[in-house]
Amino acid sequence: MGDREWSRSHPSYPVRKTSASWNSESVIGLVLPTPHPPLPRMREYFIQAAYLTASVLFILGLKSLTRPEKAQRGMQQAALGMLVAIAGTLVHHDIVRYDWIIGGLILGSLIGYPLGMFVPMTAMPQRIAISHMFGALAATLVGVAEYWQHSHGNGVGSAEGTAAISQGKMAALGFEVLFGALTVTGSFMAFGKLQEILPGRPITYRGQNVINLALFAATLGIFVYLIFNPGNAVLFYTMIALAFVIGILLVIPIGGADMPVVISLLNSYAGLASAATGFAIGNNVLIIAGALDGASGFVLSIIMSKAMNRSFGNILFGAFGSVVTSTARSVTGLTARSISAEDAAMQLGYAQSVIVVPGYGMAVAQAQHQVRELAELIEKKGGEVKYAIHPVAGRMPGHMNVLLAEANVPYDRLYDMDDINPEFERADVALVIGANDVVNPAARMDPGSPIYGMPILNVDSAKNIIVLKRSMNPGFAGIENELFYNAKTSMLFGDAKASLAALVGEVRNL
Ligand code: TAP
Repeated sequence: MGDREWSRSHPSYPVRKTSASWNSESVIGLVLPTPHPPLPRMREYFIQAAYLTASVLFILGLKSLTRPEKAQRGMQQAALGMLVAIAGTLVHHDIVRYDWIIGGLILGSLIGYPLGMFVPMTAMPQRIAISHMFGALAATLVGVAEYWQHSHGNGVGSAEGTAAISQGKMAALGFEVLFGALTVTGSFMAFGKLQEILPGRPITYRGQNVINLALFAATLGIFVYLIFNPGNAVLFYTMIALAFVIGILLVIPIGGADMPVVISLLNSYAGLASAATGFAIGNNVLIIAGALDGASGFVLSIIMSKAMNRSFGNILFGAFGSVVTSTARSVTGLTARSISAEDAAMQLGYAQSVIVVPGYGMAVAQAQHQVRELAELIEKKGGEVKYAIHPVAGRMPGHMNVLLAEANVPYDRLYDMDDINPEFERADVALVIGANDVVNPAARMDPGSPIYGMPILNVDSAKNIIVLKRSMNPGFAGIENELFYNAKTSMLFGDAKASLAALVGEVRNL
């Protein structure tokens, strides 16, 4: 087909003047989309080389992210990869007008910059949920545009155009919009729960799982039907509408405490939708980046489920995460012992071994710099300081590592839960800074507790325990913590940053 003929049947594309004849076979081993007008070969090489470079940078970025000290470099590698991928895409022959793209870039930057710069670390989980929503929305819209292009773009009429979509392409398109659409609403619900716009407790009703599964089965049925009958546009759009509803129904029965797992699972779905987009529009970098995103999101979900000692099925269908206090062991009648900064400093200043247990409260108070300062003083006085990191301490994976790294705490002082737990019984002082659920012994001892079975840091084995928090209020799971009433525990009440500043002053004066 010549340029002019091709352009006539694809009215949205203008005729391109080109000397090189275009070859639909692979360039540097990557399959190109068809049909296309002839392309200058150099430009095609550039695009594919850019995609290959971007893919390598994404993989290197992910690899670097596995180690805290290389995490920053990992983010830079991934960002550079994205820039290269965008540069490659911008010279693609399908792009004939840049005004909409420039408009989109400006709008995206206007939204993205404040999201990156001004959203506090404590609100990071909901920010990530919103980012996933945008990513999934983009994948869904590309799928709809591609379908619409087939039905309207070639001027041969709706049914004829879409009926000509191949089964493979329809399978990719259907998968893309199905997973994309349910990720859009699912992520939005997760955002709403974490931002407390929606109730954090699980919303349940009779026959919920059966209804959800029936709806999903019906949507899947439409998807399979469309693969063989792609011309049915009404069913295509019905499938998208149903997927939007499924996204909402899947997330409302899940409690706020399980949202991190849900978000990383939705991350995985958004990645799979992007990979399907890549297959549908013949874009290799989307296939690779989507697959990486899908796989890493899934692995992260598994790691987090393990950290909470929960199965996926239990998280997705178990309606966990409610604010349950009735089943937890009562602590009525017990009294907590408070301590002054001066007395706490005496214990810390003369301790041989201190284990610091940071939690969400340290992040809220932004007390990481004071923590490092205190640790350095203790070390100067001959004590040893280690940091115990629970995998779900804080509100996002790696939350504590990021904060402590920002305060230049040496990486080799940070210990994972399994490595540090045996050391608590030898520790003179366990210093708990704004942590609650991750040190709650009910997870080990109280089968009635909603967090029963979740692995915790065995702070209660330490010889002395000092807890820094503002009140006796519960943590994220909304349950009482017997550790605070333990005979070895002293509570230093107040904002963690102020308490630590007082401790630094007292230890310095010892
Ligand atoms: P939490 O159990 O949430 O407890 C945090 C404690 O910090 C609260 O009891 C609070 O008590 C105290 N606090 C808050 N602000 C403070 C401040 N300015 N100064 C001093 N203390 C302050 O935290 P955790 O032990 O880190 O456990 C994390 C929880 O979040 C788990 O249930 C986990 O499942 C859930 N979660 C985790 C993630 C990830 S991936 N990390 C994401 C979402 C949810 P006061 O109000 O009395 O001060």
